[in-house]
Amino acid sequence: MQTARIEEVVGEFVNLKRAGSNLKGLSPFTDEKTPSFVVSPAKQIFKCFSSGKGGTVVTFLMEKEHYSYPEALRWLADKYGIQIPEDKPATPEELAAISERESLYIINEFAKDHFIKNLHETDEGKKIGLSYFLERGIKPEIIEKFQLGYCLNKSDGFTKEAIDKGYKLEYLEKVGLTKTKEDRSFDFFRGRVMFPIHSVSGRVLGFGGRTLSSEKKIAKYFNSPESIIYNKSQILYGLYFAKGDIIKYDECYLCEGYTDVISMFQAGKQNVVASSGTALTPDQIRLIKRYTSNITILYDGDAAGIKASFRGIDLILEEGMNVKVVLFPEGEDPDSYAKAVSPVELEAYIEEHKQDFISFKADILLSDDEDDPIKRSGLIKDIVQSVALIPDQITRNVYVQSIAQRFDIGEDVLTAELIRNRKDHIAQKKNAPEFREIPVQKTSVDQAQTAQKEGAKKEIDHCEYDLMRVLVKYGPNVIELDQINEKGALEKIETTVAELIQHELFEDELTFEEPLFQKMYEIINNALNENGFLKPSFFMSLDDQHIVKYVSEIEMSDQEISHKWFTKYKIHTNTEGDKIKQATLGAVYAFKMSKVQGRIHEIQQTLRDEEVDMDEEAMNDLLAEHVALDQVRKAISEKLGRIVLR
Ligand code: CTP
Ligand code: MN
Repeated sequence: MQTARIEEVVGEFVNLKRAGSNLKGLSPFTDEKTPSFVVSPAKQIFKCFSSGKGGTVVTFLMEKEHYSYPEALRWLADKYGIQIPEDKPATPEELAAISERESLYIINEFAKDHFIKNLHETDEGKKIGLSYFLERGIKPEIIEKFQLGYCLNKSDGFTKEAIDKGYKLEYLEKVGLTKTKEDRSFDFFRGRVMFPIHSVSGRVLGFGGRTLSSEKKIAKYFNSPESIIYNKSQILYGLYFAKGDIIKYDECYLCEGYTDVISMFQAGKQNVVASSGTALTPDQIRLIKRYTSNITILYDGDAAGIKASFRGIDLILEEGMNVKVVLFPEGEDPDSYAKAVSPVELEAYIEEHKQDFISFKADILLSDDEDDPIKRSGLIKDIVQSVALIPDQITRNVYVQSIAQRFDIGEDVLTAELIRNRKDHIAQKKNAPEFREIPVQKTSVDQAQTAQKEGAKKEIDHCEYDLMRVLVKYGPNVIELDQINEKGALEKIETTVAELIQHELFEDELTFEEPLFQKMYEIINNALNENGFLKPSFFMSLDDQHIVKYVSEIEMSDQEISHKWFTKYKIHTNTEGDKIKQATLGAVYAFKMSKVQGRIHEIQQTLRDEEVDMDEEAMNDLLAEHVALDQVRKAISEKLGRIVLR
């Protein structure tokens, strides 16, 4: 954790921009429109104000990639070239113990390497697979980069080796690499060239396998089935390789297939992804949105390509993103075109043919009949329908103006049509059962921060939260206290914040009700008993992410030392030490006060509820306790008052 830089790690998943001393971006956890995801390089923590998640670089990986604690550490070690001594090789029992998810990743990783080896080191692989790629014009370094491979045309070459290595058949079937029929297992992808599909962080989630046979009956591509690690609608082919350039050029090219991505990439357009194997989904668009809000669709100029691009346009607009379209000449797809021309020509073609969606639709739908009034009005309606999907009103108005100009039609007419469409659209969304608006704080981050803090504190006892905050933040700080010694004289003693709190809680036999705090308190207590102090960074490295989240919240909030009373009574203290001392005493007394009041409340409740059938003795006991507590309450409030007013 000392080596890892949170901004680097998060930067692999989120497009971060400077905001003061922090970095800010769109939350990878929610579908938000305004960035409220904050990373503090100085403190090495993150906070997501729309989902409430927060913590260290490890928390981030656990939340984002669903890693376990050790998996997250392993990922970091791998990224930063740190070796973790591990007992190898794993026994079958150990293998079985690793989580299923992790097993599936490991199997895919093994399969990827196996297929690469086949491609380069077997006769069949070289003769059939490798020569196919090379004939298609894919350069060796690109073959290597995309980790392309080959699955031998032997019934169970891969499966056998995997089983020999100790991988469970059950898992091999789950990731779809092996099929079993009547007790016979065989390789699902046999005789196909293999395209590994990577997660944003480079893990192999699945494969696409292309047949080399031109037989029409055989499906050209086989794809891995959905599994707990492979959700087609949430993955884009090539994103792992493209994300850097997508951020750099603030634009993402979107095409249809594996080969499109690879050829475009090879031709120098590296900010390119594909929605391979599925029609484009809203989740895929949101994935891109983390890196840019500009998508350029590159589809074939055939009917299917155009139809797909129309659907894509609407989905992209609906996500509040900008969309352009480039159509390739009839019969060409980005792959074939990128290979037919030079990179410079490709660049020129794209720039020349990049259209906004209005011109694009107009060109397609009007073609030669520019003057046919019925066609024209149909087109305008169609375009307005798309504009109605845009969530932002200002953007919608800009489009209305440009449609008005282009088609020489009044803005008011368009606006009326737009409003009608908008209403339909909203009504439709409300009816759709799968549509659920995620309540996102649309206010500024600061407001969101306050709201968040208030929400969190209401859940857990305010005073417990505050005392723990002081304990974690200022535990080792030394403060000076006044004490009356045996001779009745006033003397100054020095103690630490942590020891003072420990002493006060011990004397009054108080504990934290919130289990999280009690757990932290016990850790601190043990450390103190061994004469050790714990820095916030100690908590940040624990595997209990609830603790990490709480401590990072404290670190992030930068709350003024002065307790709320001090601000309320406008008390200004001089030194840092004074402030810490007052904050500590304030928090301790407030904590005690809340316990006393809690008990008083309990007693009152009991007396009220059980008045009738309570025996006299018990009642008297309670009343006596009540009286005593009232005195304690008075004493504490005097102490609190003194702290405040001194
Ligand atoms: N696809 C698929 N299954 C098929 C056909 C296509 O999953 N039977 C997906 C693949 O991801 C493919 C994409 O749809 O990459 C686009 O299909 P197509 O244009 O037919 O394939 P290309 O990528 O052009 O492949 P090639 O150039 O090798 O024919
Ligand atoms: Mn093709």
